[in-house]
Amino acid sequence: MHLFKVSLLGLNVVSAVNGYTTEFDASTYAKADVVNVDVAIIGGGATGTYAAITLRDLGKSVIVVEKQGELGGHTETYIDPATGTAIDYGVQRYENTSVATKYFDRLGVTYNGSPMPSYTNATVYTDFTTGKPLTNFTPSFNFGPYITQLERYPFLEWTKDLAAPVDPDLYSSFGDFLVKYSLQDVAYSIYMFSSTAMLQLPTLNVISNVGLKELGVHTTAIGVVSEKGNHIIYINALKVLQKSVLLSSTVTSARRNSYGSQLVVSTPTGKKLINAKQLLITIPPTAKNLAPFVLDTKENSILSHFVAEGLWPGIVKISGLPAGVTYKNAAPETLYNLPTAPAINSLTPTAIEGFYRFYMFNAEPMPYAQARAKTLASIKAFADAVTGVSTEPELIEFASHTPWYSKFPSEAIKNGTWHELYKLQGYRNTWYAGMEIVLGSVALWNYTSTLIPEIVAKL
Ligand SMILES: *[C@@H]1O[C@H](CO)[C@@H](O)[C@H](O)[C@H]1NC(C)=O
Ligand SMILES: *[C@@H]1O[C@H](CO)[C@@H](O)[C@H](O)[C@H]1NC(C)=O
Ligand SMILES: *[C@@H]1O[C@H](CO)[C@@H](O)[C@H](O)[C@H]1NC(C)=O
Ligand SMILES: *[C@@H]1O[C@H](CO)[C@@H](O)[C@H](O)[C@H]1NC(C)=O
Repeated sequence: MHLFKVSLLGLNVVSAVNGYTTEFDASTYAKADVVNVDVAIIGGGATGTYAAITLRDLGKSVIVVEKQGELGGHTETYIDPATGTAIDYGVQRYENTSVATKYFDRLGVTYNGSPMPSYTNATVYTDFTTGKPLTNFTPSFNFGPYITQLERYPFLEWTKDLAAPVDPDLYSSFGDFLVKYSLQDVAYSIYMFSSTAMLQLPTLNVISNVGLKELGVHTTAIGVVSEKGNHIIYINALKVLQKSVLLSSTVTSARRNSYGSQLVVSTPTGKKLINAKQLLITIPPTAKNLAPFVLDTKENSILSHFVAEGLWPGIVKISGLPAGVTYKNAAPETLYNLPTAPAINSLTPTAIEGFYRFYMFNAEPMPYAQARAKTLASIKAFADAVTGVSTEPELIEFASHTPWYSKFPSEAIKNGTWHELYKLQGYRNTWYAGMEIVLGSVALWNYTSTLIPEIVAKL
C-alpha cells in the first residue's frame, strides 16, 4: 500500500515544490523517523494511556503523541523536594470497579479502600475578595432530592448518546432546573463539586459532571498507595510503553484517507512521520486542537459546536493562616452565594502545613500567564485580608486543565448533536474518547474498553 511505503532513497528533498508538500512523503525522512503503527493515539492522559496499554496487550502496535513531558493528563502529583511527601492536586480517587482494579493490577499499582486523608478540621465560608467570613451561611448537603433527579438519567454515568427529541430538562439552563425541582438549597454544594459557572449551563453539562458517581452514590472509592502518589499509574505505564510514547510532541499536520492517517509530528528530536491505520483522538476536541487534522464538512458540522471552560489546579504556600482550616469561596450577595468567575473555588490544607490545594476556574479558557497572575493576585488579596498583613503567597504548582470539559451548548444538545458524534466514531478511521464523552478516569477507562474492540475490528 502506498501509504506505508518507506522509500530507501531517504534523501532530504526540500519541501513545497510547485505547491506539492513533501512532508507526507516518507522518502524525505530518515528511516528511523517514519513510524508505522496500527493505532496512533493523540493525548497521553487517562484515556490515551489506557488505550495504549490495552491495545498493546492485544498485540497491536501503537504510538502515543503527548504534548507534555510526561503521561497522566489531569493526574497531577507534587513531590515535595524537602520531605518527599506526595500531594495529588488533580485526580484524587478512583471508583472501585473491575475496570480500574484490573488496570491497576496490570500496571502493578497498589490500591486500598481507606478513606482519603483529610487535613481539615474546620471549614470557613469566606468571601475571597474581602477575606471576610460569611455570617449566617450554612450550605445544605441534603443531596437527596437532587439525587432523585439524577436517577432519572442513570445512563449519563457512561454515555451522552442523546438523539432528538431530547428531554427539555437536559438542554434548559441548570438555574431553571434548580428552581423547577426546588433544589436551591444545595446549589452551593453542587457548585463546590463542579467548580464551574453553572447556572447558565444546560442541565446536561452540570449533571454529567456532578453526577451519581461524583457524589459517591452506588459506588465506593479506592485510592492508590504509592510514595509517588497517583502519578505511579503513569510512571508504570510509561515503563510498559517506552518508545511507543512521543513526549513533548504535537501533531502539526495530518492527512486522513480510506487507508488510514499520516501524521507529521513535531518532537524534541525533530519531525517524525506516522502512518497509522486508525486514529484515536483523546485531547479536547476544540477547533484549535483539531485544526491539524483538517476536518471535513460532516465532521465540522458536529465537532465545531464544542465549547470549553477554563480550569487550573495548583498548590499554593501561604504563611500565617490558622492550621487545618479549609476556606471555601462564597460570595455574600450573589444568587446562592456562588462566586463570580474567574474565581478560586477553595483553599484546602494538604499533608504539608501551609500548602493548600485549589482550583481556579473560568467560564471560558484564558491564557496560562493571565490565569496564573489572576490566581496569585486573588490569593494574595484573600490572605492579606484574612491575616491583616501583607503576605507573599507562593504558587508551588500551577497546572492547566484548560480547555476544560468540552461540551455542546443548549441548541446542539437539543437537536441531537451528541448522537451525531457517537455515529461519527470510526468515520475516516478516526475515533474520539476524551473527557467530552464522560468525566472521570475510571468512566473513561470503561468507555475506552468498549471502544477498543470496534477499533480493533477495523485493523
Ligand atoms: C471493591 O469492591 C469489591 C466489591 O465489588 C470489594 O470486594 C473490595 O473489597 C473493594 N475494594 C476495595 C479496595 O475497597
Ligand atoms: C487543626 O488541625 C491542625 C493540623 O492540621 C492542628 O495544628 C490544629 O491544632 C487543629 N485545630 C483544632 C481546633 O483541632
Ligand atoms: C444542530 O444544530 C447545529 C447548529 O446549532 C447544526 O450545525 C447541526 O447540523 C444540527 N444537527 C442536527 C443533527 O440537526
Ligand atoms: C461501563 O459502560 C457500560 C456501557 O458501555 C455500562 O453499562 C456500565 O455500567 C459502565 N460501568 C461503569 C462502572 O461505569
